[in-house]
Formats: sequence, C-alpha cells, structure tokens
Amino acid sequence: MCLTLQVEETLKPFMLSMKKLREISSRFTKEMDNGLDKKKHQKAAVKMLPTFVRAKPDGSERGDFLALDLGGTNFRVLHIRVEDKKILKVDSQICAIPQEIMQGTGHELFDHLAKCLGEFLESQKLKEQKLPLGFTFSFPCEQTEIDKSILIRWTKGFSCSGVEGKDVVQLLKDAIHKRGDYDISSVVMVNDTVATMMSCNQQEHEDPDCEIGMIIGTGTNACYMEDMKNVKRCEETEGQMCINTEWGGFGDKSPLSDPGALDDILTDFDKEVDETSINPGVHIFEKMISGMYLGEIVRLVLVELTNNNLLFEGKVTVRLDTKHTFETKHMSFIEGVDQEVIDTIQDLLKVRCSEDDARVVSLVCDTISSRSAHLCAAALAAIANRIRLNKAKDNLKTAVGVDGTVYKKHPNFRHKLEDAVAFLAPECDLKFYISEDGSGKGAAMVTAVAWCNWTEAGLITK
Ligand code: GLC
Repeated sequence: MCLTLQVEETLKPFMLSMKKLREISSRFTKEMDNGLDKKKHQKAAVKMLPTFVRAKPDGSERGDFLALDLGGTNFRVLHIRVEDKKILKVDSQICAIPQEIMQGTGHELFDHLAKCLGEFLESQKLKEQKLPLGFTFSFPCEQTEIDKSILIRWTKGFSCSGVEGKDVVQLLKDAIHKRGDYDISSVVMVNDTVATMMSCNQQEHEDPDCEIGMIIGTGTNACYMEDMKNVKRCEETEGQMCINTEWGGFGDKSPLSDPGALDDILTDFDKEVDETSINPGVHIFEKMISGMYLGEIVRLVLVELTNNNLLFEGKVTVRLDTKHTFETKHMSFIEGVDQEVIDTIQDLLKVRCSEDDARVVSLVCDTISSRSAHLCAAALAAIANRIRLNKAKDNLKTAVGVDGTVYKKHPNFRHKLEDAVAFLAPECDLKFYISEDGSGKGAAMVTAVAWCNWTEAGLITK
C-alpha cells in the first residue's frame, strides 16, 4: 500500500459521513429527552440542567456589579456597569489557578478566589461597597434556585476535594466571610454558556433574540431556551427557561445508555485519551471535541504513524512520546505546509521533519479538527431543530452566541461547523455571533436582571 493510503487508513475512523452525523444528531435528541424527563433525568448522560434564567434583559437594568469567571486555568474578576442597555467593563483582573490548587482541596481553591477578589476590590477602592456578584462557574451544577448551585462533578482538569455535592455559592461566601475584610451582596450563579447567550442578547446586532449559547474552548457545552412545559422535572409549565445541556457528557455510559451513545465511533486514540485523563468515563463527547484534548489525540495518532514507519523516519522521540507536548493551539497553525510549519513541528516534537512528514501532520490535524467541528454541528443541529419544533415552525431563524478558543482561533473550524449544521438542519437558519468577554458581561447581565426583579419584589432593599 502506498504511504498516503496507509495514513488514510489510520485516519478513516475519524472521518464521519453526513449519514453518521445525522444518526448522532438523533441520538443526541434522545439523550436530551432523557435529561429533561422527570423520572429519567438523574440517570441521564446529558444532564439538561435547569438554570433558573428565565427572563431576558428588558433594557431597564442598571447598576454596578462584580463578576467572577472560573472555568479554565485562569480566574477573572470583573467590575461591570450596566446602563442604557449596555454592559460596560469598568476593569478586570486575571489570576492564575496553579495546578496544585486545581487539584488540591476545595478550601484552598475558594480561599484563593476570595483572595484574588479581595485584591481586585482593594485596587478598585471598592472594599467598602457591598456589590451584587455574578459567578460564572463553568462546571455542571444542579441549581435549585439562581443563587444555589450544587457541583455535580468537576470537569476539565479540576479535581478539588470536598466540593462535589456542595453548594458553590456557600463555599464562596464562607471563604469571603472567613477573611472578614470585605463583603458581597447576593450571588447569582451562571454557566459560561448561559453568560455567553445573555451577553449576545445585549450586543448591538439586528437579531433581537439569541436563544443558544455555545462554548468550544478548553471544554465544550451549549445552553438554549426551552419551553417550561418540556422541562418535565420542574413543576411549572408556563414560559421558558434556559437549559444548560452539559453536552460534554454525551456518550458517557449511564444506566439509560449502556453501551454509551458514541461507542461505535470512538477510536482507540479516544479511548486512550479518556483512560489516561483524570476523569475516565466522564465527558466523552467533550474529549472528542474540546481544546483540552484535541492536541493529545493528534499526538497519539502521530506516535502510531511513526511506529508504523509512516512518519519521521520511524523514530519516536522522547518529546513525541510525552503526554501533552502537542497542544491544541498548534493545530491552528499547522494547516498547509511551508518552512515555518516544518520548523514548528521539528521544534515541538524534536523530530526530523521532511516536507512529506509535514503534509501528513497537517492532514492529521485537519482530520481531528474536522471531526470536532462536525460532532458539534450534530449536537447543535439537534438543539436548533428542537427550538424549531417547540415553536411549531417550518423554518427557524435564530442566533447562537459563541465563545471559546477552538472556535475563535482555528482558521477553518467555524466554517466546517456552520456548513455541517446547514446540512444537518436545513430548516434552521442560524446566525453565529462571537461573544466578546461574554462570560463576565453575561454573568453581570443575569445578576442585573435577577437583582432588579428581587428589588422590585421587595426581596432586597437597596
Ligand atoms: C465543561 C463544563 C461545562 C462548561 C464547558 C465549557 O464541559 O462541564 O459546564 O460549560 O466545559 O467551559
């Protein structure tokens, strides 16, 4: 067999036909139904979490708010002003979350967050004020109210002990009270998808409604506006609520999905990435799509090709053989072949890379990122169709607020995703809006809406 054919043979399991993607889209629809169901939701792989975000901003909201954004390796603190239908970032600060805190104890994590917030308030001369705070906490949480949020499980490399099963709002408040040098007013919890969707509703574009929020970054997830009558696990039947799908869990084995819904398309490389992760068996869909894992899938394929003498003269270097040496961000760069690409590969993996080798590496990167975009498209098409059917419309026009480095930084990702959604959900016309600073601004917006409602209802006196 010629070299290219042998390479293609290795890559074949990553290439999903449109027919297969359609099938995956219908499986996702079924998982969404399970997640919304009164009896089945606890066992569902796709959690479909109620967010208690029901009202969209009506433009009357105003005030100063704090926003916290925790979801990756950094933690951000923002001071946001909402006025005249605009969300203005007054100032912000980034604090790193070192690995030992990400995998330490919950107390250490929340003490660190409270310390960063304290330093920010000090620098802003805000320590004497008691501002409402929006907390974008981008992990799966069971919310019973907008200000009570129980962490179901950690994802994306976090594993702080003593937090799963606990109310995150309480842990934050406890850490702040323990310090005693400042205080905050009410806390409103949001997922990053929700914040992204809400921030898009405020951007000045012609679509008044953004009904979907999507993140494709370190992790991946989406939320959307669902009719209450379909949220069978809640008693209420009127109006709408934003549902955090936690689609990263699609494909996880559960009593309702055994074998897992994606077992037939999982490659040996995916299985290895999962097995060597800190949370095996959890968030299988996310591990095929998001920035935390794509680079590692590419590296494993490169090792296999080299072992089979199809790459780098068959020499597996120590670098190539070391976990996480090839990062997802490099995939954006390795599209096509030129001297810069060859130099980058040589430098990264400490290999001797010929032009042919670079061509193969580029093909691997393209194949893995295409699969990621296509899988997202399959799930997104299912959500869009669901919204369309809820509205009993033949055709749906709506907008999706998007954030995340994979979507924003990869040169072809968004086109591949958008083309595939158009193919899989031809009755849905989706407009994609990149959300700038969505996590922080959206959290402040949700807080502003809740704050105004609470104040109007006399629950808070300013
Ligand atoms: C992970 C989290 C989810 C978050 C997503 C994107 O999947 O579980 O809550 O929205 O990452 O950050």
